[in-house]
Amino acid sequence: MKGVILAGGLGTRLRPLTLVTNKHLLPVYDRPMVYYPIQTLLDAGIDDVMVVTGGEHAGHFLKLLRNGKELGLRKLEYAYQEGEGGIADALKLAEDFADGGPVVVALGDNIIEGSIAGAVNAYREQGSGAKVLLKRVPDPHRFGVARFEGGPDGQIVEIIEKPKDPPSDYAVTGFYMYDARVFDICNGLEPSLRGELEITDVNNWYLGRGELTHDVLEGWWTDAGTIPSLYRATRLLAHKDGAPDPIDPLHGVSGA
Ligand code: G1P
Repeated sequence: MKGVILAGGLGTRLRPLTLVTNKHLLPVYDRPMVYYPIQTLLDAGIDDVMVVTGGEHAGHFLKLLRNGKELGLRKLEYAYQEGEGGIADALKLAEDFADGGPVVVALGDNIIEGSIAGAVNAYREQGSGAKVLLKRVPDPHRFGVARFEGGPDGQIVEIIEKPKDPPSDYAVTGFYMYDARVFDICNGLEPSLRGELEITDVNNWYLGRGELTHDVLEGWWTDAGTIPSLYRATRLLAHKDGAPDPIDPLHGVSGA
C-alpha cells in the first residue's frame, strides 16, 4: 500500500515560528516534525510515499528529505497544494500517485508512541472502504470526534468536526486508510464554514454507507500544530521508552 503525508497549510497557530519555514519542518525533540509520520508509515511497511505540501517554504522539504533514501523510503514523490483548501483538498493531489489503489494518509503533524501496523494489516484484510484510528483525549473539542452507538466498543454513528459539546472523548487521529473512491469523494465536497474541504466529511461519507471501521490507537498520540501541543510532543518524545527527562529546568542539563 502507498502512503500520503499531508504537510501543507500555513501553520498560523504556530506563528511566528512558521513565518520562516513550514510547520512540519520545525524541530520536535531531536528531529524535524515530518520525520515522525514518515517513520510511522515505514514501521507499517509503507515505503512508497507522497508528501503534499504548499506555501512559500515548500522547497525546504526537498532540501531535508531529498529522495527519501536516507530515511529508508524506497520512493518519495512531492505535490504542491495551491492555497489553503484543507486536508481533503490536499489529498486530491495524490490521485495519480495512488494509481487506483488504496492509500494510508497521515497528517504531517501527528506523532504517536506506538505503531499503526496492526491497523494497516486489518485494513488490507478489510479490502475496501475506509478505516480511522481513534484516541481518547482530554480536549476532544479540538478534533474530529466520534459519536458511538452504545459506547466506544460499538459502531461510530457520526464524526463531528471540532464540536462545542463533544459526544465522546474519542478523537479521530490524523491516520486514515481509504480505497480509491476517496478522490471522487474529495472532488465532490463543498467547503465547510471555515472554507476548507474537511476530511471529516470524507469519513462521514464512508460511515453513511457502513464502510468505515475504526481501531483505537495504543500508546500516546499528539498533534503538534499549536504551541502547547508542539511542546507536549517534545516532552513525550524526550520521555519515550521510559527515558528520564533529559532536562531538569531547576538543576541544569544532565549529560551535557
Ligand atoms: C484535523 C482534522 C481533525 C483531526 C485532527 C487530528 O484537524 O480536521 O478531524 O481530529 O486533524 O490531528 P486540524 O489539525 O486540521 O484542525
